[in-house]
Amino acid sequence: MGEVSISGAKNAAVAILPATLLTEGVCKIDNLPDIEDVRIMRMMIQTLGGSVEETGRDSVNVCTKDVHTHEVTHPVMARMRASYYFMGAMLGRFGKAEVVLPGGCAIGQRPIDQHIKGLCAMGASVVTDHGSIKATAPNGLFGTEIFLDIASVGATVNLMLAGVSARGLTTIFNCAKEPHVVDLANFLNCIGASVKGAGTDVIRIRGREGLHGCNYTIIPDQIETGTLMIAAAATRGDIVIRNAIPAHMEAVSNKLMEMGVHVEEGIDHLRVTALKRPRCANIKTSPYPGFPTDLQQPMTALLSTAEGTSLITENIFEERFKHIYEVRRMGADISIDGHIAVVKGVDGLTGAAVKASDLRAAAALVTAGLMADGETLMSNVKYIDRGYDHLDEKLNSLGADITRVETPDEEEMSY
Ligand code: EPU
Repeated sequence: MGEVSISGAKNAAVAILPATLLTEGVCKIDNLPDIEDVRIMRMMIQTLGGSVEETGRDSVNVCTKDVHTHEVTHPVMARMRASYYFMGAMLGRFGKAEVVLPGGCAIGQRPIDQHIKGLCAMGASVVTDHGSIKATAPNGLFGTEIFLDIASVGATVNLMLAGVSARGLTTIFNCAKEPHVVDLANFLNCIGASVKGAGTDVIRIRGREGLHGCNYTIIPDQIETGTLMIAAAATRGDIVIRNAIPAHMEAVSNKLMEMGVHVEEGIDHLRVTALKRPRCANIKTSPYPGFPTDLQQPMTALLSTAEGTSLITENIFEERFKHIYEVRRMGADISIDGHIAVVKGVDGLTGAAVKASDLRAAAALVTAGLMADGETLMSNVKYIDRGYDHLDEKLNSLGADITRVETPDEEEMSY
């Protein structure tokens, strides 16, 4: 039996780091994952004039007292999805923000109309100009009621960040309930904000002045946990996953159990044991607490060798099926019809040269490679490093055989 420990949550970290702009105090942040997205965020805060002092492998002291610009226009931010979180935070602090239009994994259209709708309702004027979003609120933001058309993680986070400095009460209806939304709310309350209801459909934020520094520990990464659970099931493994929050994994644990995988929950750990070939299962992605879209891709790889035919319905991102073309090269029998994939379980996969198209597609190909007979050569491995904290080392400690090699065709990364 192997043991592995989960790192801090990527999607919480990329919201909490911009949130430090809301206070001039020092924020000591622990359990920060060692991933490229976080390195970029840290670099951005320093480029803006803030300080990020490393105090341990996964700890930093962040102070944004000396940030005097509202312009987040460094080209590297254009490749990152979470760049738009600077908008809510900067608007609150300076009454204006200029943020380069967000990039992110190429998994669909990913509009930001709900962010803009909410900020405008709070009194901001927002225009898109020369590849940047320019928002101004010369008289400051004011609290109001905002109903999101979609329970968007990004819009919920951005409007929470803006609401913290708005005058009066901001109420956001139809909020995202993901664990990282709750983690951001906890961070904001730790610096003195008043955010209530995170984790439910309605979040209420009472604007406050005089926010201060804090000590905060980021929650464990839900998606890293799920990726390792799926890897255990894929390899007929028996592993203990430490520093996890089992309650965040209910949709995944239950789906794996439906497939015949044994999942045992402790207070802060999970044991996943797969003694035989998993059975097929149908997956429908949906916002938390449903099955996460971020785990659809590794789960598809696992189901490619399950017994029977599985249906995968991707309801969040319409183009999140690019990994399937690559897993097919390894012998999988998967057809795609719109946002539904039909996965006919085959007896086994064979190693092949494959290319990752985005972060979770890369996780799917690693999962497939772990199951495949022979060697799998995955290119664009940098996608893994933007969102997983040393995944190869963690898997190797559990018995995998993964080595990094230089390949000539690594393409320019798109975040
Ligand atoms: N949407 C809109 N309008 C908006 C915002 C979203 O139509 O203004 C749509 C999106 O196109 C999508 C759906 O709403 O169809 C949900 O999008 P959401 O805003 O929730 O996603 P996001 O904030 O862009 C975050 C994570 C993603 C994760 C999704 C869903 C971060 C930085 N990114 O993206 O993480 O897949 O929520 O849970 O938190 C990843 O980690 O690999 C990743 C892509």
